[in-house]
This record gives sequence, structure tokens and C-alpha cells, in this order.
Amino acid sequence: MTSQPQQDRRVAIVTGGSRGIGRQVAQRLAADGFAVVVGYAGNKDAADDVVAGIEAAGGTAYAARADVADEAEVTALFDLAEATYGGVDAVVHAAGRMPLSPVAELDLGELDALYRTNIRGTFVVDQQAARRLRPGGALVNFSSSVVGLAFPGYGAYAASKGAVEALTLILARELRGRDVTVNAVAPGPTATDLFLDGKDEETVARLAGQAPLERLGTPEDIANVVAFLTGREGHWVNGQVLRANGGII
Ligand SMILES: NC(=O)c1ccc[n+]([C@@H]2O[C@H](COP(=O)([O-])OP(=O)(O)OC[C@H]3O[C@@H](n4cnc5c(N)ncnc54)[C@H](OP(=O)(O)O)[C@@H]3O)[C@@H](O)[C@H]2O)c1
Repeated sequence: MTSQPQQDRRVAIVTGGSRGIGRQVAQRLAADGFAVVVGYAGNKDAADDVVAGIEAAGGTAYAARADVADEAEVTALFDLAEATYGGVDAVVHAAGRMPLSPVAELDLGELDALYRTNIRGTFVVDQQAARRLRPGGALVNFSSSVVGLAFPGYGAYAASKGAVEALTLILARELRGRDVTVNAVAPGPTATDLFLDGKDEETVARLAGQAPLERLGTPEDIANVVAFLTGREGHWVNGQVLRANGGII
């Protein structure tokens, strides 16, 4: 348990908190004093491991399974956060998938499944966030720099993230008067399962070399940006898409 008094403790829900960027965000926000709900889809052991790490470092967290596209499960996730910790101050929606295929060969069943997670999932999570975030709160969605980079093979995925960007900008305006910010972070290539799975060493090295900073992003790089946006010092940033990618163009 953290020593922070309960009434001052801010509360974060991190979807996709079991792995990759979301995992690092959960750890970072816990270190920053948030009580954290670590959302996951299927990897209970990984989510429990994140919680154990947070608790070992003196933080507060629990793991909760919810398919982000299932409104009943996401509603229950938010209900549990409110019941356990008293409210919600930050929602970081990092859950996402990235199947790649040239458009001509794209399996449309796979397209539907991708859009269910990446687009419907973002609407479901954002809807709950819009209803429940307390004043001073922050919602962070995840887009991708590939929306601008337009790499071949990324058509379905980039289009799903284009939808996330559009939703983010509109929701920021719909929440006028609530003192809640809505932004998206758009990482470039970042060393997680989502990026590395299925790529050979040469492809990884080529993409790593594309940014002027000449390396892949790390989950820590991205968690730093999220920590700023969800922290009090980042609260003047609203309705933006932050391309956190080492300068890749
Ligand atoms: N890595 C990159 O290069 C990169 C670049 C640009 C944008 N992004 C975006 O950044 C976000 C995080 O990506 P990542 O690289 O950290 O991915 P990752 O390592 O593959 O982790 C994905 C996370 O999403 C969860 N998840 C997947 N489908 C879900 C569903 N239907 N419901 C709930 N949770 C679900 C997974 O849970 P389980 O562990 O339970 O499966 C896991 O925690 C994504 O939105 C991604 O599109 C990543």
C-alpha cells in the first residue's frame, strides 16, 4: 500500500496494462502516486506480475480482465475502480492490436476483428471515461505515427488509428466545462511484442534507423509522455495528438 492519504490519491485505469507500453505506463503512474487498475484481455499472469511489481515498490494496484470492445465488461471495470478506489482520474487506453497485410490481400474478417478492438474498443472505453472522469482528469488514447508515415502493409491498422485520432479531437471538445483533457499519443516503432512479433532482424534494424535519434522507442519513452499528460503539469495540453517517435518522418 502507498502511504499517500486515500482522499488525495488519484486513480488510473490502464487498458492493455499487462504488456508493452501499457505495462510500463501502469508502473510509472503507480510510482507517481496513482492507484492503478491494470486492464488485460487474456494474460492474467502478466497482469498479476505487473501488480506484484507495483506493490513490491510500495504502490497500489489490482488487475482486472475486460475485453475493451465489450461494453458490459468495460462498465464493470470502471464500476470496480470506483468501488475500490473512490473514482477515476486518468484513463490510459493502451490496448490495441496490429495485424499487417497489403490491402489487396486483406482478410475482411480480420479487418472486422481489428476494428472491433481498435475502434469499437476505443469508443467503449472513451464513453465510460467521458461519463466518469473526475474534474482535473485526463484521458489518453493511442494512435500511431504510421497514420502519417503511411508504410505499406499498415492500411487497416493505420485506418483504425485515424479513427482514434478523430474521436480524440472531438471528445476533447465535447467535454467542454468538465476540466477533463483528452489527447492521443502516437508512438513510432517501439520495442514491444506488438512491434517485434513477426519482423526479422533486418526489418527491425531498418525501422530503428529511420528516426534521427537512430533507435527504437522504448515503453519508458512513451510512459514518460503519458505521465506528463496525466499529471498536473500536462493539464494545459488538450485535444492534441502527440507524435512520440524520435523524429521519424
Ligand atoms: N509498439 C509500437 O511500435 C506501437 C507504435 C504505435 C502505436 N502503438 C499502440 O500502442 C498501444 C500499445 O501497444 P503495445 O506495443 O504495448 O502492444 P502489446 O505489447 O501487443 O500489448 C497489447 C496490450 O493490449 C491488450 N489487449 C489486446 N487486445 C485487447 C482487448 N480486446 N481487450 C483488452 N485488452 C487487449 C493486451 O492484453 P493481453 O496481455 O491480456 O493480451 C496487452 O496488454 C496500442 O494501441 C498500439 O496500437 C504501438
